[in-house]
Formats: sequence, C-alpha cells, structure tokens
Amino acid sequence: MVRHGVKKGDRVVIYMPMIPQTVYCMLACARIGAIHSLIFGGFASKELSVRIDHAKPKLIVTASFGVEPKRKVEYISLLEGALARVQSKPDKVLIYKRPNLGHVPLAPGRDLDWEEELAKAQCYKCVSVPSDHPLYILYTSGTTGLPKGVVRPTGGYAVMLNWTMSAVYGLKPGEVWWAASDLGWVVGHSYICYGPLLHGNTTVLYEGKPVGTPDAGAYFRVLAEHEVAAFFTSPSAIRAIRQQDPEAALGKQYSLKRFRTLFVAGERCDVDTLEWSKKVFKVPVLDHWWQTESGSAITASCVGLGNSTTPPPGQAGKPVPGYNVMILDENKEPVKVKTLGNIVVKLPLPPGAFSGLWENQETFQKLYFQKFPGYYDTMDAGYMDEDGYLYVLSRADDVINVAGHRISAGAIEECVLFHPAVADCAVVGQEDPLKGHVPFALCVLREDIKTEEEKILEEIVEQVRSNIGPVAAFQKGVFVKQLPKTRSGKIPRSALSALVSGKPYKVTPTIEDASVFKHIEEVLKKNQMG
Ligand code: COA
Ligand code: AMP
Repeated sequence: MVRHGVKKGDRVVIYMPMIPQTVYCMLACARIGAIHSLIFGGFASKELSVRIDHAKPKLIVTASFGVEPKRKVEYISLLEGALARVQSKPDKVLIYKRPNLGHVPLAPGRDLDWEEELAKAQCYKCVSVPSDHPLYILYTSGTTGLPKGVVRPTGGYAVMLNWTMSAVYGLKPGEVWWAASDLGWVVGHSYICYGPLLHGNTTVLYEGKPVGTPDAGAYFRVLAEHEVAAFFTSPSAIRAIRQQDPEAALGKQYSLKRFRTLFVAGERCDVDTLEWSKKVFKVPVLDHWWQTESGSAITASCVGLGNSTTPPPGQAGKPVPGYNVMILDENKEPVKVKTLGNIVVKLPLPPGAFSGLWENQETFQKLYFQKFPGYYDTMDAGYMDEDGYLYVLSRADDVINVAGHRISAGAIEECVLFHPAVADCAVVGQEDPLKGHVPFALCVLREDIKTEEEKILEEIVEQVRSNIGPVAAFQKGVFVKQLPKTRSGKIPRSALSALVSGKPYKVTPTIEDASVFKHIEEVLKKNQMG
C-alpha cells in the first residue's frame, strides 16, 4: 500500500469475502493511518459505485471470488460494473486470487497481484494518529438520500472494544470467541476483527452459513472444534437452524465443553427463538442491542460486571456504562415505565461511538441530534420496564431489518421507480418466519401499460437485485390503483407494514384517502398475500 502511495488519511475500499486476507487489509490500513471502508459482498455494482464515489479511495482491494452456498460471487465483474459508473477512479486495484477458483485476468497498469506485491513488500513502522483520527468509514442504510458513511474514531473505539470483551462478553484473554457475522457489517468490524484481537482473544472467521454449508449442524461443529467460549449470532441464523433441524439433532453430536454464553443481536429476538436456543445450546442466551453508529452494545446484560444471565424474556439488556438511555414521547418528554416511545441517548455519547458522517456533517447534525435536542436519536422505538430493561420493538424510520441486515426501503423504492411501467411505489417490511422481515412492494402502474403484471414484477425484482444486491432479498410485490399517503405526502409505513403482514393496522387521521387501505386489502386477498 505504502509503495503505491497510500498514506495517512487516504481511503482504501475493501470489497472482499470472509477470508483472513480481508482482516490483514484492515489491520494494514490501521497500521499506516489509512481509512478503510469495507463494502459487504451482497451489495451489487450500483451500491458499490455510490460508496466508491463518496469515499474516493486511492486503492481498492478485492478478491477474485467469494463463495456462497449455491454460487461463486464474482467480485471482479461486480467491481468492474461499479468502476464503469464512478467519477473517482482509484489509482490501483489490488487483487487477491483465491486458489483453485479459476483464472483471473488483470487490467494492465491498474491491477496489482496480491502475491507479487507481498513478495516485494517490507515491514513498515506503525504511524501515530490522533485519537480522533478516523479508523474507518462504514456505510449504512437510513432514510433515502446520500450514503451515510459512519466515521469511527480510532482511540476511543480501541479502548471501548477492549473493555467490552470482558465487561459485556465476560471473556478472559486467551479464550476463543466467535462472532458469526460478516466483516462488511459493524459486528464484523468490532467483534470479528478489532475487539477480540485487542483483548488477546482468538477470533473465529467463518466463511459459511448457519445452514447449507453443509447442514444445520455447522455452527455446533465450529463451536466444538475451536472450543469457543462465547458466541455471537443473529436470531435469523438461529431460526434457520431450527427450521431445518427442529430438534437440533445434528448439533447434539458435538460436545461444547468450553461454551459459556450465547449473545444475539442485529434484530428483535422473538421469545420463541430465544427459548429454543437456550434449550439446544444449553447456555444463557443474552439479547443485546446496538447499531452501526454505536460500534458496540448500547444495552446488554454485562456478564463481566455481574449482571443477571436470566433476564426477563423479550428485553435487550440494560444500558451499558457510558450510555444514558431514555424513552421520550413526541413532545420530547420522558414517558412512564412500560410506555412505548422514542429510544434516545442523553449526550454525550461514550468513546467509540461514531464521530460523524463522512463528508456529511450537516446530515449528521440534522438526522441524529435535531429532533431531540441534547440527545442522540437512535431511530428505534421501544420501552423500558421498572427494572431498567429495554425492549426494542421497531424502527421509526424507513429501515427494514432483513435477516439482521439493515436495508433502506427508500433505496428499494427509488430503484423500483426506475422501471418505465411504474408510476408510484411504496416498499415496506413484511413479516417473515425466517428473516424477521422481507421487503414488499406496492406499485402503481402507469395508465397505458399493457404488459402482464407478473412480467413487470419479475423485471422489478431483477432490477433491485442488480442495483442494490441479492442481500435485500426482494421478491414480493403487488400492483394497486393508489397508495395511501398523509397530507404531507408521506407513506404510512408502519400501517402498510402491518397490513401486508396480515395484522391489525391503524389508519391515522392525517391519511388523505383511508379507503385506499381497503383496496390494498382486497388486492392482497386476491393475490393470496398478506
Ligand atoms: N456476498 C455475496 N452475496 C451474499 C453475501 C455475501 N457476503 N451474503 C448474502 N449474499 C446473497 C446470498 O447469496 C443470497 O443470494 P441468492 O438470492 O442468490 O441466494 C442473498 O444475498 C440473500 O442471502 P441471505 O441473507 O444469506 O439469505 P439466505 O436465504 O441465503 O439465508 C439465512 C438465510 C437466515 C441463513 C441468512 O440470512 C443468515 O445467515 N442470516 C444471518 C445473518 C447475520 O448473521 N446477520 C447478522 C448481522 S449482525
Ligand atoms: P445495524 O446498524 O445494521 O447494526 O442495525 C441496527 C438496527 O438493528 C437497530 O437500530 C435496531 O433496529 C436493530 N437491532 C439491533 N440489535 C437489536 C436487538 N437486540 N433487538 C432489536 N433490534 C435490534
């Protein structure tokens, strides 16, 4: 990197699968003060190009292929697709060729071969940076518009991660830890890479799924083979195992002798999934709540601080030291216990939380700190009980949580609207027994359209897949005559989400034409959906 001109403050985009080389790149950037920006492999070319254009990297590092259960992920062609769209071309692209996965042609003058570069490389001294120097930019979804590049300050983050390994997760240095997420998400940054390594824990890097690689016993095998002491996964992953192996018969053949605690996060954990995990893993299962912005848990049952390992069902822990969590109503007043409201954090945020949005400080201020002055707006809704346990129920913005992945409904809507036949569109989360929620589109067609609806839906699905990426898991939609809107033109997302999930919904008086809901109900019935 240094030989090719990368220096302190330069950005390096890392678009790579779950292989050790990805961690080497992250650590190499940290060593020389370059700011890395990892982009999750499940995003397609357009999403990738938007992030490249925003971060303006000097170098992009990628690998020839990723491995998904049923296909190879063609990183290079996805990257070529993105580079064809971007204004800010990187100087160089460094490519790691995965062994035995086919021939990889290199673009002369631009591409560098990992092995050749490594053979020429020399050890380079660590570069000192101020504690608030950005360690990385991590793009996340939120309300439509420019990408939100969460900026992580170096010093506070290191201190906070090191502390949480013992205080939140109860680990001693030397023990084995596994966070079954992806390096492209915040969990991967904090708890596959930096946290365990700072604290002296062995970290498990798993390029696989809970099921299908090869079966629903995979997690148990990895826990047993590596003698994992504590493990972090998402409720969706547990539901996937349960769906395929309801009695965890495959898991029972493994002895998990060092396994002490299972942590879940990323989405709401339903009580049924929680109870099932306790039964099959035979350890305390602790839900904890956090966000890309926080970088670590905001609420948790901190086992290292002696918190209860049998908290009441449905909660996501109590505020972690450093976070003053409160529930406010729309008038910015604290609500009574067990009353639903906006979850906010009284300022200041603790060290390690984000310090801004990359090249977008105005949005940073407006989005997170304007609605509730003096507080950080988490944009989650929930309540606290009399003992201080937090219950996180839903998002207050347009984010849909798909299998623990944060997907912007607005971004999918924008993409659907590119289809020439679609005049208007609303995308909301539909409840899903495996992934928690999946995106569901309600589309209004232009009047003169004669093409069959089924064909249009197929085209829209393909459009979202090739623009946003397969991770959005967008497959479903219906065509309606009109969309319900408030008088100010907003889509009543939570009511529509309940409606397409076949649940009772509330029509607020601000809706312009309430009869539209009945029309949508009929369309859903006709299509046997919802
Ligand atoms: N690179 C490229 N593509 C990826 C990818 C990656 N890193 N991750 C997912 N995808 C693709 C998948 O191949 C799939 O594509 P397909 O439509 O061609 O099959 C699509 O994105 C959806 O993938 P996924 O979310 O894995 O859904 P699934 O139906 O294959 O599997 C689960 C369902 C529940 C097993 C899976 O969603 C899962 O493991 N979830 C847990 C996720 C998690 O740990 N989140 C925690 C974040 S903190
Ligand atoms: P991300 O930034 O991708 O980590 O997503 C953060 C969002 O996921 C939060 O704002 C919540 O909406 C949701 N989330 C994360 N953890 C939990 C949890 N334990 N319970 C409920 N929702 C959660």
